[in-house]
Amino acid sequence: MSGDRRDRLFAGDDAPESDFVFDERVARVFPDMLERSVPCYRELVRLIGIVAARLAGPHALVYDLGCSLGACSASMLARIGDPHLRIIAVDNAPAMVEGLRARLPDAIVAGRIEARCADIADVEIENARLVLLNLTLQFLPPARRLAELRRIRAGLLPGGALLLVEKVVWPDPGHDALMSELFADFKRANGYSELEIGRKRAALERVLIPDSIEVHEARLREAGFVRIERWFQCLNFIGWLAC
Ligand SMILES: C[S@@+](CC[C@H](N)C(=O)[O-])C[C@H]1O[C@@H](n2cnc3c(N)ncnc32)[C@H](O)[C@@H]1O
Repeated sequence: MSGDRRDRLFAGDDAPESDFVFDERVARVFPDMLERSVPCYRELVRLIGIVAARLAGPHALVYDLGCSLGACSASMLARIGDPHLRIIAVDNAPAMVEGLRARLPDAIVAGRIEARCADIADVEIENARLVLLNLTLQFLPPARRLAELRRIRAGLLPGGALLLVEKVVWPDPGHDALMSELFADFKRANGYSELEIGRKRAALERVLIPDSIEVHEARLREAGFVRIERWFQCLNFIGWLAC
């Protein structure tokens, strides 16, 4: 990895002091950041492609909401062989959408990926076989989450599904503290210093607001999903399939 793609965002004197934003500095180091900050991230992205390939069916329309640089869109595209697959990849951070356009130009020119710089709330969801929210719902204000899930549910075709992956918290303080420490251990093991871990935690505090498994599953039911199954867990990151 070239030096300027290594995530040292919170290491130096020029570390951001405001709330975390998905800007150019983050986009530049994002693949390294996720790989070293999300347990099993690389495998998760690969699995999303595999799961999507089973769920999508022919001529599928797939939404990748909060797509960032398009890692999951690329994974799904690589696994779903159907040339008629279309992915609408949405992110409200211009730096991320620019990065996606630079990384996946062929898929965009071929019309297989449509990259939109927009808030999820402004994207009409219709005729979807699959909607992916990979590590995105946690960045929406909690008061907006149910409404977005309802819109997604309403936009699914019969037999369509939502794949939701989130960082979670536990209601039991002891267990939650253990899982938080394990998460910090994972970051330490990946070369982040105490300073970097502490600064990033502070920057994310008001921006990434995780829910418990119970809150997620109750909200999915309230949004109209009837089958809600967990298909992924690595430390404090959980994935659901809901339809
Ligand atoms: C942790 S990243 C998601 C990672 C990505 N799905 C992946 O697998 O590589 C969260 C993304 O959601 C985007 N995001 C947050 N709130 C959003 C909103 N309201 N509308 C659209 N995108 C949003 C951020 O800009 C960011 O790129």
